[in-house]
Amino acid sequence: MIFYFTGTGNSLYAAKQLDTELFSIPQVIHKEQQVFEADSIGIVCPVYGHEMPGMVRDFLKKAEFRTDYLYLVLTYGNMHGGAAELADQELKAAGKKADYINTLKMVDNFLPGFDMKEQIAIDPEKKVDEHIAGIKADIDSRRKWIQPATEADRERHRQFLARQAGNPADLWEHIYRVTDACIGCGICTRVCPAGCIHLEKQEAVHTAENCQICMACIHHCPKNAIRLTIPEKNPEARYHNEHIRLTEIVQANDQQVSI
Ligand SMILES: Cc1cc2nc3c(=O)[nH]c(=O)nc-3n(C[C@H](O)[C@H](O)[C@H](O)COP(=O)(O)O)c2cc1C
Ligand code: SF4
Ligand code: SF4
Repeated sequence: MIFYFTGTGNSLYAAKQLDTELFSIPQVIHKEQQVFEADSIGIVCPVYGHEMPGMVRDFLKKAEFRTDYLYLVLTYGNMHGGAAELADQELKAAGKKADYINTLKMVDNFLPGFDMKEQIAIDPEKKVDEHIAGIKADIDSRRKWIQPATEADRERHRQFLARQAGNPADLWEHIYRVTDACIGCGICTRVCPAGCIHLEKQEAVHTAENCQICMACIHHCPKNAIRLTIPEKNPEARYHNEHIRLTEIVQANDQQVSI
């Protein structure tokens, strides 16, 4: 049993290689009952600023896992910054203990930092499938291991937090703007895991409350009509995992389905 969160499909791709019983956190989180029982339970999600998305952290606090083996796989793009250690601390604070936490390097979908064209070009160097096979072997053998953080990882995370503290508190609330290119197709409303986008007069409107900054809305817009208000490396280049169909992202994140 795996619970996953995905914006552009990397984490869903990894989750699909690791198990067949998959549950989307943006949907499961609305269930009244949050008790889950299985031989092994996994969490697969991206890291944002070296940490798990806010919704995943909320889910981990709320859920009760009855299992012999709890594991986390954290996808990232360029620098995990000690993500496994941070996730371990987060779990412990929630009164839970992971048996295994590993990171998995995939395409980096962070638009302010990276040109998606360049990221896609260097993807083969990351040997994603080889790494997933290694993680699967670990999980199948119930390996107990938390990827250790180096002092350099911890320093990177400290520096990241210091940079964040220097930003205006509401920076991320005003980060998206919808341009005239919007055709009102509604795709962004359905790939959003947090129900932050609705259509008004056939135009997408973004509300910041609960936004996970997953960037699914931007990456999946067929007209590239959602732009960042802060500089992007390449505003013309967008990304989605080549193995994951748009319908799968919609099935995972649509907030209009009844649970
Ligand atoms: C807001 C944001 C912050 C991110 N922060 C990091 C980070 O700190 N380190 C990193 O290596 N990748 C970072 N990434 C890249 C994602 O973790 C990576 O592309 C992930 O595999 C995306 O998973 P998904 O396709 O399942 O959404 C960030 C992406 C976003 C959108
Ligand atoms: S996906 Fe793009 S074109 Fe479609 S409604 Fe959203 S912003 Fe408009
Ligand atoms: S509004 Fe966009 S960035 Fe925010 S949660 Fe929804 S899809 Fe993700």
